[in-house]
Order: sequence, then structure tokens, then C-alpha cells
Amino acid sequence: MHKGETLTQFIIEEQRRTHGSGDFSGLLADIETACKRISAAVNKGDLIGALGALETENVQGETQKKLDIISNDMMVEAMQWSGHLAGMASEELEDPIQIPEKYPKGKYLALFDPLDGSSNTDVNISVGTIFSILHAPKGVTTPEVKDFLQPGTEQVCAGYALYGPSTMFVYTTGHGVNGFTLDQDIGEFVLTHPNMTVPEDTGEFAINTSNSRHWVAATKQYIDDCLAGETGPRGRNFNMRWVASMVAEIHRILNRGGIFLYPRDNKNPDMAGRLRLMYEANPMAMIMEQAGGAASTGTGRIMDVEPTEIHQRVGVVMGSKNEVAKVEEYYAAK
Ligand code: F6P
Repeated sequence: MHKGETLTQFIIEEQRRTHGSGDFSGLLADIETACKRISAAVNKGDLIGALGALETENVQGETQKKLDIISNDMMVEAMQWSGHLAGMASEELEDPIQIPEKYPKGKYLALFDPLDGSSNTDVNISVGTIFSILHAPKGVTTPEVKDFLQPGTEQVCAGYALYGPSTMFVYTTGHGVNGFTLDQDIGEFVLTHPNMTVPEDTGEFAINTSNSRHWVAATKQYIDDCLAGETGPRGRNFNMRWVASMVAEIHRILNRGGIFLYPRDNKNPDMAGRLRLMYEANPMAMIMEQAGGAASTGTGRIMDVEPTEIHQRVGVVMGSKNEVAKVEEYYAAK
């Protein structure tokens, strides 16, 4: 039984250590509240009629689930009132979200994917919320798209909530990665996974192999060599997993190592991969690097990509450091 530090306590202690103003702590507390609300909605599912799709599509042209909208609203409502944010951007909405006039404005920008992997909600498989915090450029109180277009290296904080058998909250402010489990009895996240570290080597990969005919040669060669097992060029057997829920995938890798790939492919030449740089790739890259792993596009560090569009996509290869370096070698050789 963990009677450890609560997330609230942890955030306030971090504020004391860094002599913070309390603004950032307040923002994190708002996100925590939103994640608890989303967790409750995901957990109740059909009991509150929250499952199933809407008739609408999001900016990415994907069918929206009821829970996508419910979660998006919960994130906005939890963060807009408290005066910590200059603005927000959501994967679900085309334009940045402005803070209503009646509320004070703050110095941070929040970007989020309110319910990642939401195609899994109807079949009761883990989903999650991903968030990224940036500084608003000085003096900006009505942020435009250009104000959000900062590389991942500028992130002040990145984190996710995982709605699985347990609800977890995992985040980094650039000083390691810590994981908290929601104790439903007391309604608090409790520190259960201090200082999460990704093993440097792995024998487990995660990729959607139904896309293999669209892969570039380097991806195909890498996966073929993994599949060849101990008698192949890699000289070891590999295991494979695919949950189709990035948060679940990254959480597994943070706990036991592995590599996750959603690489750029030739399926849709207009799209540089499937995952979104600002809402998925950058925050997960910061977490992965802070936990001792690596995050690459295949040809360079994800967090160094200079964003040009708020909803832009990017090829993603992240996880155990030495395996990510291996994939980069395959890309460099082709
Ligand atoms: O971007 C949403 C997402 O659901 C990710 O969480 C996940 O990794 C990926 O898409 C799954 O894609 P696919 O349906 O192609 O397996």
C-alpha cells in the first residue's frame, strides 16, 4: 500500500525548490483536475452514454468520438479560468482557443490531445490525455498560431494521463520523469513511479505492420531484420506489441523498454507521418528523453523540428536509446 506523496504535495515541493511563483503549480493542478474528470467519464463509459461517434470530423478529418468532445471541453474548462494561460491549442480544434474576456490572462500556452487513441474507447482499451506547456511570447495575451510554433526543446513541461486498469499521471518539467497513480478512494494521485527510466536496450518493437506496403525502405529493412530473429543480422529474437493507443505504448516503454514507430511512409504523400508534432510527438519526446530514452524522426531529433503548422504531422521513432540509434543507422544507410 502506497501512502506516499500526493501529486499536489509533489508539485508544491517542486515549486519551493525552484522558487516558482505558484503560477505553474496552479496550471498543473488544473490539468490534474481535468484528467480526473476525464478519467471518471472514460470509466463510466456507456453508463453515461459517453461511448460512440458523433457525426462531426475533427481538423484532421477523423471521426470524433463523444468522449473526444467531452474530454476537450473538460480540459478547456479546467484551464481557462485561473489566469495561468495566455491561450490553448487542441488537436480537436482548428484554431487556437482564446481565454474568455472575463478571466485574467497568464504567461503560459497549453497544447493538448484531450483523448488520444479514442478509437479504443468503445472497446474498453486504454486511452490517454497528452499535454505540452510552453511560455507565451512576452506581451502576448491573444496568441495566434505563430506564437505556438515553438520547437519541442522550448517545452516547460510535458505529460500524460493514462486511463487504463489504473489511472496514472506522468509528467516532466525537465528534471526527470515521475509517475502517480490515482487512488480512487481518496481522489488523489499518489507518487508510485519515482524517477522513471527507460532501459537503453530492448527486444520489443511496436509498429502497425498493416502499413508495411507503404513503408520507406529503411523502415522495411529494420523490421525485416528484427523479424529474422536470432539467426538474422540482429542476432536476437524480438517481440511485438501494438495497442493503437500511443499513451499506452509509451507508458509500457517507460516501464520496461521498447521502441515505438509511427514513421513517415508513402501512404499519403501530403502527410509527414500520422502523429501530430505539437500534441503527441513533442510532449512524448520530452518525456522519453527525460527518462533516458530517445525520440527521433528517423533522421533527427524530434524536439529540434521547427514547426511550421500547428496541426503538422511528423514521423516518430522513440524509446530505448540504443534501439532508436539503430533505426537512425538504417535511415542513414538508405
Ligand atoms: O493519433 C492517435 C492514435 O490513436 C495513436 O494514439 C496511436 O498510436 C495511433 O493513432 C494508432 O494508429 P493506427 O490506427 O494506424 O494503428
